[in-house]
Formats: sequence, C-alpha cells, structure tokens
Amino acid sequence: MKTPTITLKEFARRRQRLMQAMGKNSIAVIPAASERLRNRDVEYAFRQDSDFLYLTGFPEPDAVAVLVPGRDAGEYVLFCRDRDPVMETWSGRRAGPEGAIAAYGADCAFPIGDIGEILPGLMENRTTLCAPFGHSEALDRRLFGWVNQVRSKVRSGVRAPCEFFALEHHLHEQRLFKQAGEFRMMRHAATISANAHRRAMQVCRPGMIEYEIEAELLHEFRRHGTEPAYHSIVGGGENGCILHYIENRSPLRDGDLLLIDAGCEYGGYASDITRTFPVSGRFSAEQREVYEVVLEAQAAAIAKAVPGNHWNDPHDAAVATITRGLRALGVLKGRPSDLIRKEAFKPYYMHRTGHWLGLDVHDVGDYRIGDTWRLLEPGMVMTVEPGLYFGPQTKAPKALRGIGVRIEDDVALTRSGHEVLSGECPKTVAEIESCMAAEVTSRSGAA
Ligand code: GLY
Ligand code: MN
Ligand code: MN
Repeated sequence: MKTPTITLKEFARRRQRLMQAMGKNSIAVIPAASERLRNRDVEYAFRQDSDFLYLTGFPEPDAVAVLVPGRDAGEYVLFCRDRDPVMETWSGRRAGPEGAIAAYGADCAFPIGDIGEILPGLMENRTTLCAPFGHSEALDRRLFGWVNQVRSKVRSGVRAPCEFFALEHHLHEQRLFKQAGEFRMMRHAATISANAHRRAMQVCRPGMIEYEIEAELLHEFRRHGTEPAYHSIVGGGENGCILHYIENRSPLRDGDLLLIDAGCEYGGYASDITRTFPVSGRFSAEQREVYEVVLEAQAAAIAKAVPGNHWNDPHDAAVATITRGLRALGVLKGRPSDLIRKEAFKPYYMHRTGHWLGLDVHDVGDYRIGDTWRLLEPGMVMTVEPGLYFGPQTKAPKALRGIGVRIEDDVALTRSGHEVLSGECPKTVAEIESCMAAEVTSRSGAA
C-alpha cells in the first residue's frame, strides 16, 4: 500500500514561508538534534529535532540548516557530516554534502566541521538573526561567537546582525497550521494506532501482564515502520487513575478496566489515542455508567471543535457534561453551575481536554492570543481527551473506586468542521464489546 510522504517541494514551500515571515535582511540558523547517551556507550534512539525536521526532512544528527533569504548562491545551506567509509561501516550511512543537495534539496551543503569558517560570512550584512535562542547554552555561545566574528570586521565596512529573534515565534505559528500533506501523514499515523488499540482489545485476557499488552501495541506500530510517539500508558484497574502511568508491569484482573494511552509516530507526526475497556470483555454496570459519562463529554467536546469556536469551548463542554455526570453518579451534590464555578469536578477530572498535535505530541502553537483563548481555524489538529478518575484516595462512593476512564481522539479542523483522524478505533460500549468478542484478526492488511 502506498504510504504518504512529505515531498521535497513541500519542504521547500515551508522554508519559503518562513523566509517570507522573517524578512529579507535576516538569516535563520536551525540546528539538528544531537545523539544522546543512555548509558555508558549506548545511545538513545535518535529523534530529529521537530523544527529542523519540519524545514528540512534531513534525518541525521550533527547538522545545521541555514536560511538566507535572497542569497544569490542559494537560500538554503545545509551543514552536515561528511561521508566517511570507516564511520559508515560502524554507525550507518551518511548523506554527506553531495547527498544533502541531491536527495534533500539543499542549495549548497558543506561539512559540519567547516561551519565556523563559512557561517559568519553568511551572517554579514544581515540585520536579524533568527535562531532557537535560550534552549541550549552551548548553542547560544556558538551563535554569539559567530556574531562576534562578524563584529570584528566592522572596520572593513561589514555589518553584523543586531537583532536577535526567537525562531519559534514565526515557525511555531506556521507549524500549528497543517497542510493537506500533513493531514495525510497524521491520518496514517492515527489509523495504525487505531489498529494497535483494536489489537490490544482483541488479545486482552485476565491474568496477562500490562507489558504483554504494550508488546501488542509495539508490534502493530513497528510492523508499519512507526514507533511510539510517547511512552505507552497501559494501566489496569486503579493504575488507570495514574495519569502518566508507564510502569506497565501489573497483572490484569478480571473485573477491572484497562486504560491504554498509546499512539505511534509516522514520519515524525504523532498520533495520540486513549481507549478504556474491560479486561474481561464486558463492562460492569458501574464501569458502564462512568464510561457513558466520559463518552458523552467527549462527544460534546468534539462537537465544539469547529472553526470559529475558541480553544476552550471543547473543554467547557466536557466540564459541563462531566459535572452533570458526577451528580448523576452520586459523587457531587448541588447546582451544576455552582459546581462548575467551584471546579468541584477537579478531584475526578484534573487535566485539560486536549492539546495541539503534530510533529510533537504536545505540539507547538499558542493557546491564547493576548488575554483571550484563540479561535479554532482550519488546519489545526488537536486531541479531545476527557476522563474521570476515581482513584483509591478519592471520596467517591466505594463502588466507583478503582475506575479510571479516558477517551482520546485526534481531531483535525477543516473548513466545513472537523475530521476525527482516529475515528476507526472502537469507542462505544457496543463497539468495544463486539471487538473484544471477535477472534484476533488484525495480523495483516490494516493501514
Ligand atoms: N499521551 C499524552 C497525552 O495524552 O497528552
Ligand atoms: Mn493527549
Ligand atoms: Mn494521550
């Protein structure tokens, strides 16, 4: 099956858009991520910096992209590791500067070791330097070292950058608005994740250990060439009430719910799905009641996720439904409007209803403009993830304790409303129970 990609043309358009926002007397310096040690000489799996990936698609560490609007010899300059047969035998292939031009669309490319000689020259007579200032002391020091090299030449009539601008101010606003190709990438990631959740529902049996279910998720992610976008949360019973539970090593008990928050990353794009289902395959009466409240809250929130509403409208809708549900469950007493004003739901629903989603699972982009929540617009992608958590320490009726439910989907805003990217994942009580009753089928095909 043909899988979506971001084309070289699209990467070029992104750089053009950024350069337009920067203005012509500027220069941008965007570093790749570095490899990081996990222990002794073992590295963590390399993950490219999201800003760098967004602008270049270049997958290697030890690289720096430089954008120089209007430069005759080429606006996009990439510094990267040189080819090295010995190093490539040990640690894998490198594009080298030639490959950076041929395969990744750089206008010019140089060995990363030459950056100190070349970059100050590119900065000459540029007024504004855009870079991710303040994220790494080492990078800040190097950037100002290069600026000082240019300053040392002022007597020969050269001007050094004198305005220092946070790259993310332009770039993160741009990343917030996804193009059609990005929707395709995110739809693909969400479909693979939906199938992983379906697989987890189908294999789950009392007595299994949480990590065995995690293994099923990973299997589904990896067989489509993806990896987890974040640590999978696989929490049975009261573990489902621990929001960031990632130990995943308790046995699953008959009669408990299992909360799974897991999503893969495809081509750098994250998906983020939560489903909660009964270990035995059938909801108890109490579990079902709680589940239906969260499901209704999620439906109310998703209905508000449309252009023209503001960022907090889905959250307000979820809170109203959750509060009514807590009264119906006998957990809260009083007038709903008073309970909402006093945030009486907070011991049982303590997080917000969503976040932006994209190259980062908690993606970039402002949530407020000035003093007000920003308006939702086509191209934005957000999660909608209400929950209810009756941990053992809460004051909820005993019959509810140990029940933790969250339901999370990925929602792309479109001109006509929205598209639920993760919509293929079973969600209603009937869908979940029938999926769990079915034979394990999803060994092939899918996404
Ligand atoms: N999985 C991270 C989150 O839901 O925000
Ligand atoms: Mn989320
Ligand atoms: Mn999540």
